[in-house]
Amino acid sequence: MLKIAIIGAGVWGETHAGIYAEHLGTKNVAICDLNEKRAADVARKYDIPEVYTDYKELLAKSCCDAVSIVTPDHLHGDIAVACAQAGKDMLIEKPIATSREDVHRIVEAANKHRVRVMVDLHNRWSPPFSAAKDAIESGELGTIQTGYFRLNDIKWVATDMLSWTSESSILWFLGSHSLDTLRWLFDDEVKRVYSVSKSGVMEELGINTTDTYLTTLEFSKGGIAQMENAWITPNGNPCLNDIKCNILGSKGMIAIDASNHNLIQKYTDSTVQVPDVLVRNTIHGKVKGFAYESIRSFADKLISGEPFIVSMEDAAKTSLAILAIMESADTRMPVDVRY
Ligand SMILES: NC(=O)c1ccc[n+]([C@@H]2O[C@H](COP(=O)([O-])OP(=O)(O)OC[C@H]3O[C@@H](n4cnc5c(N)ncnc54)[C@H](O)[C@@H]3O)[C@@H](O)[C@H]2O)c1
Repeated sequence: MLKIAIIGAGVWGETHAGIYAEHLGTKNVAICDLNEKRAADVARKYDIPEVYTDYKELLAKSCCDAVSIVTPDHLHGDIAVACAQAGKDMLIEKPIATSREDVHRIVEAANKHRVRVMVDLHNRWSPPFSAAKDAIESGELGTIQTGYFRLNDIKWVATDMLSWTSESSILWFLGSHSLDTLRWLFDDEVKRVYSVSKSGVMEELGINTTDTYLTTLEFSKGGIAQMENAWITPNGNPCLNDIKCNILGSKGMIAIDASNHNLIQKYTDSTVQVPDVLVRNTIHGKVKGFAYESIRSFADKLISGEPFIVSMEDAAKTSLAILAIMESADTRMPVDVRY
C-alpha cells in the first residue's frame, strides 16, 4: 500500500485526500497545513492518522512514500525541493512553480535525488480534450494549423474562493491548464509569445491582479494559437469556467464548448443551476470526474512504474512559457521562450 502525505489542506488538498482514501493501492497517512484546524478537520473526515503544521517536521517524522503538494501557486518551490531531498515522489499541484528560479530548483532537486514528479495539469483527463487528442493523433484532422482556447473563471474565484489571488495570476491559475493543453494537442513547444493584458475590474473590487491576458503563441513546427485567460466573467454564469476551444487542421476541425454541458440543468423558483457532472462530482458516494482521474493516474503510475501522463518537464516548459507571456504583456513586445 502506497503511503501518501498531503501538504496543504485547502479546497484542493481535500480533493487529493478524497481520491487517495478510495484508491485501493493508496492510504492517506499524514496531512499538513499551517492552519492546524483545517488540517485536523480534513484528517478527521478522511481518517488520516498524522497531523502536522510544519512540512519539515512531516518530512522528518512521517513514514509516507509520496507527497501531494497542494499549497498556493507561489508556494510550491521550497516544499518540492525539501520533498526531493527527503526522497519522496510527489504530485505537485499546477503550476509547478511561478518563478524561473523555482522551476529550475525543483527540476534539479528531483533529478539529483532521483524522485518521480508529476504535476496536476488535469485537462489531459477531460473527456472532450481527450477525444480531441485522439482525433488529432489518428490523423483525421490532417496537420494542425491553428488553435483558439478561452479558459476563464467567474469573478468569485478571484474575489472569494482564493485568499492569495494577488500573489498569483490568472495565467498561473488557469493559463497553465490552457498552455499545457495546447502543447499537448499540438504535440509541440511554444517558441515565441505575444501577449496583451488588461486590468481594472479586479482593482475596482480591491484585488491587485491583472484581469485578462490575450496571447498569441507560435509553436516551433509552425502552428499558431490564441489563448484567452481572465477571471472577470460574471458571477451569474452557472458554470465556474468559460471554456471554448477550436483546433483547426488541414483536413478537419475540433470545436469544444465545455462551459455549458447540456446534460443537466436544475431549476427552482429562484435559481438555475448546471450541476457539475464532469469535473469533481460523486456517484453513489464515490468520487468521480476528471479532477480525480489525474490524481488517480498519479497513484496508478507510481504503483505500476509506468511514466506519468504529465511529466515534470511538461510542467516546467509550461511555466517557462507563461513567464515569457508575462514579460510580453509587460513590455508589449514579442518574447522568445527561454527553456
Ligand atoms: N488542478 C486544478 O484544477 C486545481 C483546482 C484548484 C486549485 N488547484 C491548485 O491547488 C493549489 C492549492 O489551491 P487551493 O484552492 O486548495 O488553495 P487553498 O488556499 O484553499 O489551500 C491552500 C492551503 O495551503 C496551506 N499552506 C500554505 N502554505 C503552507 C505551508 N508552508 N505548509 C503547509 N500548508 C500551507 C494554506 O494554509 C491553505 O490551507 C494551488 O496551486 C491551486 O492552483 C488546482
